Amino acid sequence: MADIPPQDKSFSPRAIDLNAFWMPFTANREFKQEPRLLIAAKGMYYTSHDQRQILDGTAGLWCVNAGHCRPEIAEAIAQQAATLDFAPTFQMGHPGPFQVANKLIEIAPTGLNRVFFANSGSEAVDTALKIALAYHRVRGEGSRQRLIGRERGYHGVGFGGISVGGIAPNRKFFGSLLAGVDHLPHTHNLKENAFSLGQPTWGIHLADELERIISLHDATTIAAVIVEPVAGSTGVLIPPKGYLERLRQICDRHGILLIFDEVITGFGRLGTAFAADYFGVIPDLITLAKGITNGAVPMGAVLVRQEIHDAFMDGPANQIEFFHGYTYSGHPLACAAAIATLDLYQKENLFQRAQELGETWQAVIQSLRGLPHIIDIRTLGLVAGIELEPRPGKPGTRGMDCLRRCYEKGLLIRVTGDIIALSPPLIIETPHIETMARILTEVLQELS
Ligand SMILES: Cc1ncc(COP(=O)(O)O)c(C=O)c1O
Repeated sequence: MADIPPQDKSFSPRAIDLNAFWMPFTANREFKQEPRLLIAAKGMYYTSHDQRQILDGTAGLWCVNAGHCRPEIAEAIAQQAATLDFAPTFQMGHPGPFQVANKLIEIAPTGLNRVFFANSGSEAVDTALKIALAYHRVRGEGSRQRLIGRERGYHGVGFGGISVGGIAPNRKFFGSLLAGVDHLPHTHNLKENAFSLGQPTWGIHLADELERIISLHDATTIAAVIVEPVAGSTGVLIPPKGYLERLRQICDRHGILLIFDEVITGFGRLGTAFAADYFGVIPDLITLAKGITNGAVPMGAVLVRQEIHDAFMDGPANQIEFFHGYTYSGHPLACAAAIATLDLYQKENLFQRAQELGETWQAVIQSLRGLPHIIDIRTLGLVAGIELEPRPGKPGTRGMDCLRRCYEKGLLIRVTGDIIALSPPLIIETPHIETMARILTEVLQELS
């Protein structure tokens, strides 16, 4: 626990006008009344504007798997910025994205050995959906235009992502979204699965709903199914035993591509490089972001099965094969950060470390059972979801009060509604886990 951040001067949020920045996914007016600004970070800790050490229970936003402000990453970015600040990757190249792609496929599940770069999870998702649609078209099955997502799924905020996503507030303001999208039911069921350890045993049959959807639309109209192997943003929903395997079988049977959105589960969160490895289910495409650069520079990516990529490589060699890409696909600074990050993960064996810590994590977090308000605890790898009973008529307020009080006591948690999501950096040590549990205990005992 020696990683205390540098002691910068206290900073008053009142020193700047907070009005101009329209904050994302935030109750702006409430926040600006009582701002929580982070001004430095090191290892497991943030420093708050009032000079307090805040233990990072969420790796920022599921990003900072190697811990904060790692000098190896900071130096790589600085050096890159001074050497090659930007270079296009449309009809030009620079070494960075080729190197990152090679490093990624070293740790990717077998067969997923082509990489398309984006700048965020949302862009990675939209890219994956477009690859899926275009893939079927280039090989003569252009009728496969439907996309299947899942209720309570979060796939970022692009129009593709919110269309396949299953969170009503993220969808309802934005018109009719993509046409031809259907949704699997979510797998969350407290009556059957509360306080399951690891994967719940009930719920494999929910994967069979895919057969129902297929018989409704016909397989020849369906391009892809996209799911998060573990749904994070709607409160850590762990797939029932056999569920992902069943989805894989059904997709195979009907020629439908399976996309795993691993924006939060990638890079060691479950103790393996990807959740696909953890569950032993290999999808056709994997979306990535966040931990790919340890959060230090925005980057997203899609890992693609080689056959899918190769299907695009059929026409004349002087033709663009896929009309898609971002100005910043494979940005030099993001690539420098990704290379340094992937090296760190390997050098420090961080995925294995997460796996080894999983048992302690589970034991300590599950020991919170019995505290006031807790109606479920879900743990897997270095992730936990702690579900609180909503206050009658005021859903979400208990969760938000919990976040505030934890922050006051020096712990950063994430809440979605009344569910606490914990996903610490993989460098976490047992005393940090115990501190998290102590603060949560105090807060839950005090909370109305
Ligand atoms: C599973 C999943 N997909 C996509 C995204 C979107 O990523 P971004 O916010 O980088 O666009 C997230 C973000 O949390 C996510 O959890």
